[in-house]
Amino acid sequence: MLLAKACMGSNPIPDDFMKNEFAVSKVAPSDVVRVSSLVKDIIPELKIYSKEARDTFVSELSYENLKKEVRNKYSVFLAAKIGKEIVGFLIGHFYGSVLWLDWVAVKDTMRRRGIATEIIKNVEDRAMKVKAHKIWCDSRSNNTPSINLLRSRGFRRAAILKNHWFGQDFFIWEKHLLS
Ligand SMILES: CC(C)(COP(=O)(O)OP(=O)(O)OC[C@H]1O[C@@H](n2cnc3c(N)ncnc32)[C@H](O)[C@@H]1OP(=O)(O)O)[C@@H](O)C(=O)NCCC(=O)NCCS
Repeated sequence: MLLAKACMGSNPIPDDFMKNEFAVSKVAPSDVVRVSSLVKDIIPELKIYSKEARDTFVSELSYENLKKEVRNKYSVFLAAKIGKEIVGFLIGHFYGSVLWLDWVAVKDTMRRRGIATEIIKNVEDRAMKVKAHKIWCDSRSNNTPSINLLRSRGFRRAAILKNHWFGQDFFIWEKHLLS
């Protein structure tokens, strides 16, 4: 009783205390429309990719295709949410006990708060649960946020692909999970 009283002391919790709390979970069919809208906000602004690349990504990540990802049993499709708002997403695919990460992206105004880190930790846990032994992905060779993020999660640069997709330079990254 005394402890409860002490906890209810003279400094009330501010209304916005939980404002930026986010949680990572699988994308539900009802989330797809909001992921699709986030894709349209984020991808066209990624000037590290050529216009051709950006246009291709936007059409690959169309609402119709994202709906298919939710149903694809080889896909992992995660979202970071604050309340009902989607502030980040990840799409990956399992093949041969290896997980390829296609996309990790976070709403620009919500970056640098650990959201992508939590999404990647979450997908690593899921990959280990299904006994995947490795995760791999690419980054543009000049995508410093992505490179630092991957390094901070223990990914190792496995290859440099010069003049590759859309004529641009890429790094390939890998992380072993069970060794
Ligand atoms: C890359 C991206 C997903 C990072 O998301 P995020 O939620 O901001 O990342 P986090 O807050 O978890 O950052 C983790 C670490 O990554 C690195 N990092 C993230 N943003 C960075 C930046 N702008 N500059 C340098 N390092 C950065 C830092 O090491 C950071 O740790 P720190 O904040 O303790 O220094 C985000 O910048 C993004 O959506 N970019 C556009 C999409 C994209 O390029 N995706 C990757 C290719 S698929």
